[in-house]
Amino acid sequence: MCGIVGFVGVEHAALPQLLDGLKRLEYRGYDSAGVALATPAGIAVRKAKGKLSALEGTLGTLPVEAPCGIGHTRWATHGRPTDENAHPHLDCHGVIATVHNGIIENYQELRQELLDLGHRFASDTDTEVIPHLLEEYGANEDLVRAVRLAEKRLKGAYAFLALSSRQPDQVVAVRRSSPLVVGLGSGENYLASDFSAFLARTKRAMVLENGDMAVVTPTAVEITDLQGYPQSRDVLTIDWDVRQAERGGYPHFMLKEIMEQPEVWGDCLLGRTDGDRVVVPELGLAPEQLDGIRRVQVVAAGTAYHAGLIGKILIERLARVPVTVDVASEFRYSQPVLEAGTMVVAVSQSGETADTLACVGLAKALGYPTYAVTNVVGSTVTRESARVVYTHAGPEIAVASTKAYTTQILVLTLFALALAAAKGRPRPDLVRAIRRVPNLGAQLLADVAGIQAMAKRLAESRDIFYMGRGLDYALAMEGQLKIKEISYIHAEAYAAGELKHGTLALIEEGTPVVAILTEPTLAEKTVSNILEVKARGAEVWAVVDRALARDLPADHIIPLDLAEPELAPAVAAMVLQLLAYWAAVSRGEDVDQPRNLAKSVTVE
Ligand code: M6R
Repeated sequence: MCGIVGFVGVEHAALPQLLDGLKRLEYRGYDSAGVALATPAGIAVRKAKGKLSALEGTLGTLPVEAPCGIGHTRWATHGRPTDENAHPHLDCHGVIATVHNGIIENYQELRQELLDLGHRFASDTDTEVIPHLLEEYGANEDLVRAVRLAEKRLKGAYAFLALSSRQPDQVVAVRRSSPLVVGLGSGENYLASDFSAFLARTKRAMVLENGDMAVVTPTAVEITDLQGYPQSRDVLTIDWDVRQAERGGYPHFMLKEIMEQPEVWGDCLLGRTDGDRVVVPELGLAPEQLDGIRRVQVVAAGTAYHAGLIGKILIERLARVPVTVDVASEFRYSQPVLEAGTMVVAVSQSGETADTLACVGLAKALGYPTYAVTNVVGSTVTRESARVVYTHAGPEIAVASTKAYTTQILVLTLFALALAAAKGRPRPDLVRAIRRVPNLGAQLLADVAGIQAMAKRLAESRDIFYMGRGLDYALAMEGQLKIKEISYIHAEAYAAGELKHGTLALIEEGTPVVAILTEPTLAEKTVSNILEVKARGAEVWAVVDRALARDLPADHIIPLDLAEPELAPAVAAMVLQLLAYWAAVSRGEDVDQPRNLAKSVTVE
């Protein structure tokens, strides 16, 4: 939540770099934005409620040549989205500016203390206590020292950047849980919430760790802990292709990311099968160690949780190992009962979801091995977990997760197959077949006109019910989330057999029901449920394996060419994504930046 950027250079002015970085980070929050530039005459700030375009309209009289500045794109936590609450925030004299991502939990107490000392506040945010604390601790003379002293007073999970007009050639950064990375240029350096902010300028980067403070100038990056002891961080080369983080001719990132799936599935599977065997060396487990796994506990949020639900079914079905999947925000406070032989798997596209990270911390504290399935190299979960398996989906910019979800499914499928083999239940047929999944995906995407036409009709709905059994129920859960989050149509997912235990009462003439049928062994039962809702007037839209489509009592049918049922979810999911996408487009909604949401949920 919230994106922060900083730039210090000599030859280039900061403003265009900050705006470009903010544009690339806008997916992290977009209810207001702002920039601050350091000049010897003082800090120049512009900020505005609304998207970046609103800020751009306010930049007219800024000192455009200033070579050092910070910027912010906001997802509101404390205080409504207004011009006043937008970052950067200043101290009483306009000498110090800060941008911040995360939450200062003790801000009320600090604010009162600062008010008592005579400080004047201009916003309702928790952030504003930082510049005033810095002022109190002498930032006018020595920003670095003041940051060290002020940081000791803050409680919470956050990252912030501080800039002073008295030292206009440096930005001071602190990381305490919320992500922060440094980009290394030539005669210029960058700070940002994630790499995508500066990938077009440099691929050399360092990831700051919790408790790190960085003093960044055009020619140096000095990292210390908060006591001032030097810390050394590896310089990484980020191999994401910057074009992947651009729209590339598509009207929306979401459509581009949906269409990229067959290709990124190829990347995800590359080198991970060898003949009839699954090879995932990143797991760091020999077959005998895999055999020692008695239970799997998945923790995740949102779409990643739905991927975990698919993983559960596959691991239990193929390897006969029990799996529990928990929503991270519940698990962390549930006093979980874990047993010896439990492997804890955190699934997270961003690797920064606060609740998921808390679960990893909890599992570690309880002494259980933690594995991360994530997309983002260097993200916090990669450093907190014992082992990491990357999904290789490339940057996912649209708030609605698509390619990250299907690659999570593929990784969990590979894991299920590896575990099954270790447990003496190898499935060479599935290992061979999984290599065909990218082609099946490409085949589906070659002709999507029918899906587009159906989505336009679904877009007129007030409520939509999704139903399925087994894997199809897990898919239904993702389908309903996708349509809700970008088209704002109310949607619910039900295990098909569960409808008649209450929800059937809501079905009336014309109620749209999306039925998913990719599991041949369960199809007959789902067909009965289709008949039940049709008998009450529902209009049924079936997403169905072509082999099951004949005589299906549905009003609209999207037939799919699928591999074995265990490998169907990734392909079938694309139909649900496209339905949601075109429904939102047809309603004129802001597909990539849906209201109230942000890409990474880095606060509780
Ligand atoms: O980065 P993560 O995978 O941990 O994010 C988890 C959820 O916030 C995320 O999947 C969210 O539900 C998506 N916006 C759904 O499309």
